[in-house]
This record gives sequence, structure tokens and C-alpha cells, in this order.
Amino acid sequence: MTSKNLTELTKFYKKKRSERIDALENSGFLDTDWKESLENNLHLPEAIADSMIENQIGTYQLPYGVALNFLIDGQDYVVPMAVEEPSVIAAASSAAKLIGEHGGFQTVISERIMIGQAILTKVSSPQTAMDNLKANEHEILLKANQAHPSIVERGGGAHSLQIREIKEGSSHFLIVHLHIQTLEAMGANIINTMMEAILPLLEELTEGSALMGILSNYATECLATVTCRIPTHALAKNNLEGEEVRDSIVLASQVALVDPYRAVTHNKGIMNGVDAVVLASGNDWRAIEAGAHAYAARDGQYRALSKWYTAENGDLLGELTLPLPVGAVGGSISFHPGAQMTHHLLGNPDAGRLESIIVSAGLAQNFSAIRALVTEGIQKGHMSLQARSLAISAGAQGDEIKVTADLLRKSQHMNLVQAKSILEDLRNKRLR
Ligand code: MEV
Repeated sequence: MTSKNLTELTKFYKKKRSERIDALENSGFLDTDWKESLENNLHLPEAIADSMIENQIGTYQLPYGVALNFLIDGQDYVVPMAVEEPSVIAAASSAAKLIGEHGGFQTVISERIMIGQAILTKVSSPQTAMDNLKANEHEILLKANQAHPSIVERGGGAHSLQIREIKEGSSHFLIVHLHIQTLEAMGANIINTMMEAILPLLEELTEGSALMGILSNYATECLATVTCRIPTHALAKNNLEGEEVRDSIVLASQVALVDPYRAVTHNKGIMNGVDAVVLASGNDWRAIEAGAHAYAARDGQYRALSKWYTAENGDLLGELTLPLPVGAVGGSISFHPGAQMTHHLLGNPDAGRLESIIVSAGLAQNFSAIRALVTEGIQKGHMSLQARSLAISAGAQGDEIKVTADLLRKSQHMNLVQAKSILEDLRNKRLR
């Protein structure tokens, strides 16, 4: 990636949309020949939309923006997000700015190994079946790899097998996991093809009945970890000393570890950042969501995915680990204009780099949320950003949106009734 001229992005949020697009170009994140796609609002051609799903009758749009200031493993990024919640991009950008001023995000990505499951029932002699499976591991892997030779040619494929036995009441399952390297792809089709291909062989070896063969979205062998460090002096806010803010953030982290009710909301904040990038990158955000929440409950209790704690020198340390089986190729990434734009703006990262960016967006979002919660509360910032949405919901159009939103921010109550009344006043005044 070439170096970027970040000063071009100064006061980005105050610019008009066309100026923001120019700023992305001038800063070196957007190549000139990609501008048109953004200027056309990442239009999804009708023929593509129609071939993507059954019974297509329209395209459902979301705002697409960039979170700024991300310094990840020494590299600057603008992080594209597709999201409807007004505060997400602002929160991610402000956290990334603060974290970027103190070394940025550091990430560690595990080897990207995906898991496929074959589930066998009616195995009358489980021990013999397991011995047979182990003795024939090579043949099983060979059969799986023969079902998808192209991934093997590119250096990936199924490379090991694990057997699990689960007994629960009258249910008894033998579950065979294949560990599969899908390289730059998320690999759902590769894995499913392989798993279905080995079912007859597994039935033969176990004398059981194959219930199904499918990938597992619980990608415990494909983990992304991000850490950051913030000195206390940088945390002071709202007349609160940095140490007080740090200690409150650590307490907020502790309560989210022990209380599932708080943990779910804490993790929702993380997923605000994660989902927005996963969606923008053309990846399957339902898979990421399902896997993340299972990972949050991996010791039997649902807990916070991130941890904030105090370093020996008093700095605040943050850490987040997520299963992130995303792909940099395949699926809608090869034809969806929004997904393609995201990969372009990120400098065409490989899948591991994309994981680093996504997990950093999650930690940034989490930091912003809990810092706001333990200082001024989130409503001030949220509602201020919500003002425009309320103005639009009240029926404001064109320049009425800004005027109504500004008046709404100054008014005592910020709700739809108030927005409607402000808009009505505004229109009456303009008529006079
Ligand atoms: C709102 O979308 C997300 C938060 O509720 C997250 C949190 O409580 O940590 C602010």
C-alpha cells in the first residue's frame, strides 16, 4: 500500500458528499477510475440484483460511509461501513483517532482453518467406528480433496480430521470434523461440497447413518485478535480525570464479563463496528454474528468478547478476539459494486488483513461506547446524530433537514413529535 495524505481528510464530516469523494481520491485511498462507481451511489445493476436472489423485486439500500483514522499494524486505513445507525461511523472514527495517536491497533491473525462437520447417527459400535475413521483418515481427506481439486491446486484443502462423540439422553452422535484451508475464500461452498462428498465413505466406515454434512460457522480455528494501549492522560473527559475514566472503563468491562444481560449489549456495541464492515465487504454477517456469540459463551456462560484492563504503568489496555471466517474473494465480492468498492478502499487486503481491519473496527466501537457510557452517557452524542433522522422521519426535505435538525438539537425534547412541530413552524414562517 502506498503512503496516504491524511491531511486531505481533515473535517471530512463537514464536507459535501462530492467533496468527500474528492478527498478520498486526493488522499490516495480512492483511484480515479473508481470514482464513478461512488458517484453513482454504488448502483447495483438490475440484472445482477435479479440473479442474486429468488423473487427479487427491488434493491434495499443502506448508507455507505468510511470510518477514519484507523492505524492498524502501522498502516493507515479508511474503513468502509454499510450501516443505518447514525452514531456508528462517528464513534468508530473518534475512537480510532485516539487509539491511533497512541500506537494504533495491533493484530494477530491465526492460521485460517475452517471446519466442516459430518454428523453420523445410528452408530451401533462407536469405538470401532472411531478406530475405523482414524485408521482411514488419509482416505477420507483424499476423498474430500478430490471433491474440490482447485483449492488443493492452489495450496489449500482438507488437511486433518477430528472425531467427537456426543451423548445426550437417548441421543448419540458421532461428529467428524474436517479442518480445511480455504485460503482467500470464506469457503462455504468448498467446505459443503467436501463434506457432502465424504458422507457415503463415512457411513461405510462407521456402519452408521449420515444425518448431514455442512460447514460449522463456529470458526474456532480462524481467530482474529486486536489489542490497543491508551495512556490515562488521553482518557480525561467531561471534567473527569483520565484515571477515573480508565477505572470506570475497566469496571464496565468487568461487569460485562460476569453479567450476561450487560454482556449482550456490550457485544452488540462491538458488532456495530464488525457487522458494518463485514456487510460492506460482501461477507456473510449472519455467519460472523452466530460465531461471535457462540464464542462469547465458550466457557458455558455468555460473556463480553472484549476485555479492558490496566497495564503496570497505568495505561488502559484493550483486547478483543473474534472468530472471523471472512473471505477476500468469492461470493458477491466478485460482482457487487459496494463490496468491490470496500476492497478497493482498503487496498485490496487479503483475507487475514481484512480480519485485522474488522476486529479493529469492533474494538474501536466498543471503546467509544463504554467510554461514553461511563462519562457523559450515550444519549447526548446519539441524539445529536439522531436529529437528522428524526427530521427526515418528520417529513423534512432538502435544506429543511439541516434547519430542523439544528433546532431539534437545541430544543428541550428530541423526539418525533417535537421534530414535526419544528418543521411545521419552519414551513409556516417560510410561507409568511
Ligand atoms: C448501541 O447501538 C450500542 C451500545 O448500547 C453498546 C454498549 O452499551 O456498550 C451503546
